[in-house]
Amino acid sequence: MYSSDFGKDFLWGVATAAAQIEGAASVYGKGPSIWDTFSKKPGKIKKGHKPDEACDFYHRYEQDIAMVKTLGFKVFRMSIAWSRIFPLGGGTVNAEGVAFYHEVIDECLKNDLIPMVTLYHWDLPEALSKEGGWTAYGINNAFNEYALFCAKEYGDKVKQWIVINEPFGFTSLGYMLGVHAPGLTGVTNFFEAALHTAIAQADGAKILRAEVNQAVIGTAFSCSEIVPYSHSDQDVMIAKRTDILMNRFFLEPALGLGFPTGNWDVLEKFAISYSTWRHQSRMAFDFDFIGIQNYFPLVIKYNAFIPVVQAWEVKAKSRKVPHTAMGWEINADSFYRIIKQFATYPQVKNIMITENGAAFHDKLIDGKIEDGERVDYFKAYLAAMLKAKNEGINITGYLAWTLMDNFEWAEGYQARFGLVHNDFKTQQRTIKQSGYWWQEFLSK
Ligand code: NOJ
Repeated sequence: MYSSDFGKDFLWGVATAAAQIEGAASVYGKGPSIWDTFSKKPGKIKKGHKPDEACDFYHRYEQDIAMVKTLGFKVFRMSIAWSRIFPLGGGTVNAEGVAFYHEVIDECLKNDLIPMVTLYHWDLPEALSKEGGWTAYGINNAFNEYALFCAKEYGDKVKQWIVINEPFGFTSLGYMLGVHAPGLTGVTNFFEAALHTAIAQADGAKILRAEVNQAVIGTAFSCSEIVPYSHSDQDVMIAKRTDILMNRFFLEPALGLGFPTGNWDVLEKFAISYSTWRHQSRMAFDFDFIGIQNYFPLVIKYNAFIPVVQAWEVKAKSRKVPHTAMGWEINADSFYRIIKQFATYPQVKNIMITENGAAFHDKLIDGKIEDGERVDYFKAYLAAMLKAKNEGINITGYLAWTLMDNFEWAEGYQARFGLVHNDFKTQQRTIKQSGYWWQEFLSK
């Protein structure tokens, strides 16, 4: 299998995010983001790691972009740190931050790479979080100001856009479970954040459509095939609910279908108390592509003691199935099935795999990293994607997560997903075996 099996127009790339690679978190006029403040609170990030320096991409972007080129990719997916443009979330612009993204984008173009820009990859300006962040009604005006600014500023050079990265990811982890920034908990926070995020997702897309000539606009959803642990009615029912939350909850409003409720009282109450139907058309957009980010399936069991969702994840480890260093099940067939699930919506015109990859315990030995497990992971997942594509699903591209080891949110720097190893003390980059494997795969 080589890249040419996917057709010559297929877009191959690597995905990154600002807070995970840039560093320079509190300099050059950048305002703090929620991840800067969250990481300073004790016990929130493993080993007390902070995104302050990360991969120092801010100072090393030329070398890193050259590496993307060397590996043979066509697309460089990056995100803009909102608080580097608007240190306070809105109003005064930080010219130095604006110039930085011009430089990065220009560097991509110089290297003949397509820059793909995510507007929001989880690093909300702290100033906005103080006013309630995604739970507050005012967030939509602030987001639209930011989206409009980026569209006008970079729209001549950037044609590929992703509005929001994993709306379910950051609203559930950051506003319901409190394990990601800003660390809020509870169903009410989650629902408020969800509604405003679903609105922002379509608002941002509409702004890009109006401002950017020939824009290709997508948004990126996390997804996981949900498998009931047993055939019992309760396990089947709870798996359905989990599927609604994890796979349908943000996708369906974007497609114009409104928030799904699935006869589930919790979601029905949400729909009623926020009259979500009133926002149905505002949350909808005719996306050029739907981004899918898949890492693992979930096996779900009913558990009455878990509040609200009553779903319990039966971990890959305890089921003794292959898994990554994160404990995430490796299962390429489930990747194939979730692609098919998303493709069943007639409103989904094109699918792009905007993230997929794996963390392993990579070891640098004699200046080399033999990460055969990661190579096998990619081979299996790419074969599954090819199968779906050959069955007629419009898959337009695939972006590997991620270029280099980086700040993996609450996991800190220990979880290594990169095709390139990074030594966080010296910032020395070393291409892994998987990076060379990609180079070969993309060469034909
Ligand atoms: C989802 C997120 O978009 C990305 O930021 C994260 O690092 C990867 N998946 C791996 O967890």
